[in-house]
Amino acid sequence: MASAEKNAPALAQRSKPDRNLALELVRVTEAAALACAPLVGRGDKEAADQAAVDGMRHMLHSVQMDGLVVIGEGEKDEAPMLYNGEHIGDGSPPAVDIAVDPLEGTALAANGMPSALSVIALSERGTMFNPGPCVYMEKMAGAPEIADLLDLDRPLEQTIGLIAKRKRSDVSDVMVVVLDRPRHEEGIRAIREAGARVRLIAHGDVSAALLAVTERSPVDLLWGIGGTPEGVISAAAVKCLGGQLLGRLWPRNEQERAAAVEAGYDLERVLDRNDLVAGEDVFFSATGVTDGDVLQGVRFPTAGGASTESLIMRTRSGTVRRINAQHDRAKLRELRSPG
Ligand code: FBP
Repeated sequence: MASAEKNAPALAQRSKPDRNLALELVRVTEAAALACAPLVGRGDKEAADQAAVDGMRHMLHSVQMDGLVVIGEGEKDEAPMLYNGEHIGDGSPPAVDIAVDPLEGTALAANGMPSALSVIALSERGTMFNPGPCVYMEKMAGAPEIADLLDLDRPLEQTIGLIAKRKRSDVSDVMVVVLDRPRHEEGIRAIREAGARVRLIAHGDVSAALLAVTERSPVDLLWGIGGTPEGVISAAAVKCLGGQLLGRLWPRNEQERAAAVEAGYDLERVLDRNDLVAGEDVFFSATGVTDGDVLQGVRFPTAGGASTESLIMRTRSGTVRRINAQHDRAKLRELRSPG
């Protein structure tokens, strides 16, 4: 038998398209975004978050998987739904770790401000970093062309100089996105003293990480201390898009530090995107809740209609899709109502 013929079954097997879970996850983030959109600008972040959780949970039932929530809405007692450790799906393969943030940027949504998202990421079971007791981490993220320059220990002004050199631009062209927090005052000063520019955001560093790793975006670097759950979710997105995200756990106080050390966490360790999400088959979906640089938010163009924009991605194939959808709210309500 000719060798091409002999290899045919192996090639067919290798190239056989398999299920892309991201195509199912988009319905999950769409459902969460649609559910909380009526509460955008209403000033009640708990209600908006709860609506997003309910919408997400309802649609998650439709996904055939054996899912374990690693990054969820917190501990079971405080968050009755989508809590860390909860099992999601019908228990059939694949076995996956799940990270969810039904509403990333609760205050953004409550105040009608830009860049609130609904987001979910999946990877093979046992491959997502569990941040344990640490609520915050230091983060730095950038696009593929500067990925090797990221360093949490090098002074920021030096890293900015290297970025400008790599991009063959002036330092004054470099834009760093930073959460507007008192803890970042010194870093913001250092960036400005280096001659670079700062884009301050009120909330939403997942959206900011997406922007930072996108080529030809108005932002070159994400820097600062933000949520660890958001760090893991951002790492999943960065694995799909390319680029790098570095993180290091940042305990808020001695008690948190002691708890983390006791649980075996190395607080000096710099984690990269592969430490935060070690899987090789990672799926990601985000749907805009409010308009932002990365995604358009939910719109209600007609009385019964709604539109959404989502970004869905998979590491293994490297496919990045933008999905625009039109929804009939009356029909969706009918489908959701019991009986
Ligand atoms: P929520 O969606 O839970 O409100 O988080 C929004 C957010 O801005 C994240 O994007 C960010 O990582 C974190 O909060 C920062 O935390 P803090 O507001 O405590 O500084």
